[in-house]
Amino acid sequence: MKTIDKVQLTPDGPSLSRIVAGVMTWGEWGVDYSTEQMANLIGHCLDLGITTFDHADIYGHYSTEAAFGEALAQLGTSVRAQIELVTKCGILLETHRRPDIRVHSYELSADYIVACAERSLVNLRTDYIDLLLVHRPSPLMHPDEIAEAFSRLEKAGKARAFGVSNFTPSQFSLLQDSVELVTNQVECHPLHTDCFYDGTFDQLLRAKIRPMIWSPLGGAKYFKSEGTSVLRLRDVVKTMAKKYGDVGEDVILLAWLLKHPVQPIPVVGTTKTNRLDNTRLALELEMETQDWFIILEAAVGHEVA
Ligand SMILES: NC(=O)c1ccc[n+]([C@@H]2O[C@H](COP(=O)([O-])OP(=O)(O)OC[C@H]3O[C@@H](n4cnc5c(N)ncnc54)[C@H](OP(=O)(O)O)[C@@H]3O)[C@@H](O)[C@H]2O)c1
Repeated sequence: MKTIDKVQLTPDGPSLSRIVAGVMTWGEWGVDYSTEQMANLIGHCLDLGITTFDHADIYGHYSTEAAFGEALAQLGTSVRAQIELVTKCGILLETHRRPDIRVHSYELSADYIVACAERSLVNLRTDYIDLLLVHRPSPLMHPDEIAEAFSRLEKAGKARAFGVSNFTPSQFSLLQDSVELVTNQVECHPLHTDCFYDGTFDQLLRAKIRPMIWSPLGGAKYFKSEGTSVLRLRDVVKTMAKKYGDVGEDVILLAWLLKHPVQPIPVVGTTKTNRLDNTRLALELEMETQDWFIILEAAVGHEVA
C-alpha cells in the first residue's frame, strides 16, 4: 500500500502529512510510553508517511513534549528534517509542575506566547516549530498581542507558520486581519458536527485553508459512551464497515470525515500501530454520498432537514 502523502494547508502554505499523529495520550495522559516505545511509534509513523506530530505544551501536564523530545533525540539528528512539529500554546493548567498557575485559564499576551513557544523548543529539543497554534480563544485576547508574538517568533526563526484552534469564524477573521493563519484545528466527527453549520468550514473553504481535525473518530465519545445516539451510530458504522470490505469502525469514521470538500486533515489520537496502519485504508475508501448521510442521520437521530 502506498505511503501517505503530504498536503499543503493553504496554496502557499506549509505542508503536513495527510494524516497527523496526535500525541496527547502517548505520555502521562494515556499509555505513558517509555522513550524506546515512543521512538518506535515515531518510526512506525514515518514508515507509513505520517510525518507530522501534533503536540500542546499542556499534554501530560506539561510533560509529553519533553518525553517526545527525548525519543526524537534517541532516533538521531537526521530525523528532525523528516518531520513537522505542531504545538499549541495559551492554556494554563493547574499542576504541581506549574505552581504559578492558580486557575484553569488562558494567557495570550505576546510575552507569554513567546515564552511558551520557547519552552516547547527546549522540550522538543528543536530549533524551530513548524506550526504554532493558539490552543483556545480567550475572552481577554487582543489580536495585536497575538500578532506581535507571532511576528517575534517568525523573525527569530523559532516558528515557521501560525494558526489557531477552536476559534469561531469571527475570532478567526479578527486575527486573520493581522496575521496569516494557515489552519483552525477544530473538533469534528459524526457526534460533533458544529463546524458544518456554524460557518467554520464555509470560511475555510472560501479562504482555501484546510482545517486540522481533532478527535476525528470522536475519541472516547464514540468508543466509550453507552448513550442511545452513540449505540445507534455504532450499529450503523459497523454495518458500513462490513459493506466496505470488513474494515474497522475507525476506517469508516475517518473516511466519513475525509469526504468533506474542505479537505480536512485528521489528527488521529491512536497509540496503536495497527490503527495507524488503518488510516491508509480510510484514505483509499470512497464513501458513497448516501452512506455519508446515513451515518449523519444515525448520529443526530433524525433526517436531515
Ligand atoms: N486542539 C484541541 O483542542 C485538541 C483537543 C483534543 C485533542 N487534540 C489533538 O487531537 C488528537 C486526537 O484526539 P483524540 O485522541 O480524541 O482522537 P481520536 O482519534 O478521535 O480518538 C483516539 C482514541 O480512540 C481510540 N480508538 C481508536 N480506534 C479505536 C477502535 N477501533 N476501537 C477502540 N478504540 C479506538 C484510541 O485508543 P488506542 O490508543 O487504543 O487506539 C484513542 O483512545 C490528540 O492526540 C491531540 O493531538 C486537540
